Amino acid sequence: MYKSLRQPIVCVLGHVDHGKTSILDVIRGTSVAKKEVGGITQKIGAFEVDMESFYRASRTEIGMNKLKIPGLLFIDTPGHVAFSNMRARGGALADIAILVVDINEGFKPQTVESIEILKRFKTPFIVAANKIDLIPFFTNIKNISFRDLQKTQRNEYNEELDKRLYNLVNKFYEFGLSTDRYDRITDFSKTIAIVPVSAKMAIGISDALLMLAGLAQRFLERNIEYVGGLGKGTVIEVKKEESLGLTLDTVLYQGSLKKGDRLAVSTRNGPAVSKVKAIFVSGKGKKLLEKSEVFSAQGIRVVLADKLEVIPGSPAIAIVNDTREAFDEIMKESQINIPLSLNGVTVKAEALGSLEAISYELSKKDIPIRSASIGDITRRDITDVSTLNDILSKIIIGFNVEMLPEAREAALTSDTAVETGSVIYSLIEATEKWIQGKKE
Ligand code: GTP
Ligand code: NA
Ligand code: MG
Repeated sequence: MYKSLRQPIVCVLGHVDHGKTSILDVIRGTSVAKKEVGGITQKIGAFEVDMESFYRASRTEIGMNKLKIPGLLFIDTPGHVAFSNMRARGGALADIAILVVDINEGFKPQTVESIEILKRFKTPFIVAANKIDLIPFFTNIKNISFRDLQKTQRNEYNEELDKRLYNLVNKFYEFGLSTDRYDRITDFSKTIAIVPVSAKMAIGISDALLMLAGLAQRFLERNIEYVGGLGKGTVIEVKKEESLGLTLDTVLYQGSLKKGDRLAVSTRNGPAVSKVKAIFVSGKGKKLLEKSEVFSAQGIRVVLADKLEVIPGSPAIAIVNDTREAFDEIMKESQINIPLSLNGVTVKAEALGSLEAISYELSKKDIPIRSASIGDITRRDITDVSTLNDILSKIIIGFNVEMLPEAREAALTSDTAVETGSVIYSLIEATEKWIQGKKE
């Protein structure tokens, strides 16, 4: 019945550790942030909220039910400096966005980068000024709207809060944006809403959702009409499940996808095509529902007939007749943009975003890269570098990848060093230490 409108995609952007995942956790009612390795979001995560849950979370009664969208699709992004590519991807996908700023820290480099992305893609957004529980004179309270919070706090707290908000408003002004506390705005078409929140104490989340609904409402009038045709999406996660085959968790952002369709994807060996064996969407709780056809925007799980080495973070495009058009687009979007040197380290990572992330950090430390590619560490990787003579070429760095048994075996009889891990900082540190040791 809502087929003519698709779910708005809500992207959450902001500086590292300002609380993006925590805010989404409150919305979703889970606690992913605590489980992430190193506490840093390293991939884009996506989840859907249906309107019923949304209204419950935003504590909205009558009046708001004029919002005739099937739900909202939230996309988390990493705030770490090196994940520009993934932030931009998220920004490009977003219909509306939440920019998260730690109210005590204020603007940071990735806050600015996020603003530039939102401006570049002309994405309407609200600002969540997070961690208001850390403002001096805070009187402990949980699970409350921002409106109600103020009445529970001392004047000193409300003054300290206003001081920080004033600083934020001034900062936004420097970037050419007019903002204000959401309950002081009279014309929402001219001023961007700042909602003070605390993810930790679940404060202000309902107010933020309400502002988001308002944004979606204004936006809805023109922009989120469902666009038919070729299904287009971004692959977020790739899993090889014995019983099912190859599954791709994907954000379908345009068109539709049917069981039996041919899907063009990006693999380590270039573009490839496989048949869609099954499509799942998330049902109530953790259950998956099988669908014969899905319409954008949706977070979907696609099961492909072939066990291809699909690259997470890359595009997936349904093919109607001609594969060339889809392949061209796949090629264009999957290019690895990392400067390589004749002599340097070998980098392997599980996705485009993480490969770019670790390469960016290595280049910041003036460590040249000889080869950067996606996938586990193979025997071939070991034999490739064992013929090389300079020091740097003797190390392989694996970020979020496995070292395959044959590679392990080959490494035993070679002088190749391998460092693997899932936290960038520690991997870079280990690499620097190894290089230092070799130079001495
Ligand atoms: P990246 O994904 O790494 O960019 O970080 P993020 O923006 O998703 O931040 P995350 O949700 O991981 O939170 C970072 C840290 O801040 C965690 O230790 C959280 O517990 C903490 N935090 C988040 N929100 C709040 C808040 O409202 N108050 C307080 N006191 N701490 C918070
Ligand atoms: Na974090
Ligand atoms: Mg996060």
